[in-house]
Amino acid sequence: MFSGRMSRVAPSPTLRVTAEADRLRRQGVDVVDLGAGEPDFPTPDHIKDAARHAIDTNFTKYTPSAGVMELREAICSRYRQDYGVDFRAEETIVTAGAKQALYNAALALFEEGDEVITHAPYWPTIPEQVKLAGATPVIVQTHGEDGFAIQAQPMLDAITPRTRGIVINSPCNPTGALISEEAMTAIADAAAKRGIWIVADVTYEKLLYDATPHNLVRILAERHRDRSVICSATSKAYAMTGWRCGWAIAPAKAITAFNAIQGHSTSNVCSITQKAAVAALTGPQDGVTMMLNEYRTRRDRVWEWLREDQRFTCEKPRGAFYLFPNCVDALEPAGARTSSEFAEALLSEARVAVTAGEGFDAPGFFRISYATSIDRLREGVTRIHEFVHRRERGRASA
Ligand SMILES: Cc1ncc(COP(=O)(O)O)c(C=O)c1O
Repeated sequence: MFSGRMSRVAPSPTLRVTAEADRLRRQGVDVVDLGAGEPDFPTPDHIKDAARHAIDTNFTKYTPSAGVMELREAICSRYRQDYGVDFRAEETIVTAGAKQALYNAALALFEEGDEVITHAPYWPTIPEQVKLAGATPVIVQTHGEDGFAIQAQPMLDAITPRTRGIVINSPCNPTGALISEEAMTAIADAAAKRGIWIVADVTYEKLLYDATPHNLVRILAERHRDRSVICSATSKAYAMTGWRCGWAIAPAKAITAFNAIQGHSTSNVCSITQKAAVAALTGPQDGVTMMLNEYRTRRDRVWEWLREDQRFTCEKPRGAFYLFPNCVDALEPAGARTSSEFAEALLSEARVAVTAGEGFDAPGFFRISYATSIDRLREGVTRIHEFVHRRERGRASA
């Protein structure tokens, strides 16, 4: 009934949790939603004002498919300020979120017979897009014991003559892990030697909690500029997930290819959104810092609270807004065989939505998003603990 490619692609498990939590909520159920992959903050006012102004001045027509020059230049200027790297507007394309930037890259760079290396636990869209492009994802596992650090050597060991690309996501969803600058340098150098593309998904680039240097952009620009694609968005940094604005930064020839795909699929990102994104990138950045500080507080609190039951173990994540605890020791007491069963029972009995590790290629773990208020987080963690204790007692007395 459907094309062959549909047998290769799986629906997004993260969106599934949100949908189920939403269904329960619409029935009036009090769900603590720790599944959300988006900021709970509103978009800052000056960004919304720019959008209103765009409407009022009738900036409501098609724009160039790759985005208005003002926004492409704003992206360059932001990266110059943040990373000390000069890009030209022709090296950028404005996309419908980081997702479309990554998708353009997958379709333009990878095809049947190619292998594309990435690390797990992963954000599921990464391997699915590689498969949609006809290529084969090659998965390198990272490990909970060292906070899921993305190490260079295992990634390099996975290179074969068919390797066409390496996708790095740092800070990583779902683990909050970072790749070190040393590891990024080693991967960039090896990829440069072999002509392998590097796609860096830095969507959470503004959500870094420690002072550790993390200038992946400069490393790629200096060591592997002719085959690197940097993908990001206003989504997480500026609380703009619904606006759908992202970008890819890549060699001008690659941008032309991405634009050919985009020009025949979605065309330009909403003109109003583009004006809002200009305000986000060029306007005051103190809102970003405020949100970062709040996320840091939440991260620290949730991490401590969760450990009140030592069967949940987790290194403190260093970026993004997720905790990715190991729940293997809590499964048996909770009467669950898998983290998927655990998450399902948690939602149906304790009304807490989390995302099971299976969807991220990490059974035995689950993802907590701390992009929600501190009160809801406290309530959520309490419910998780009570859920395990209640089931444990129930099993003991059965
Ligand atoms: C790692 C990662 N990359 C990209 C995206 C896509 O972001 P956007 O909403 O800008 O398309 C997400 C969204 O959750 C993500 O977690």
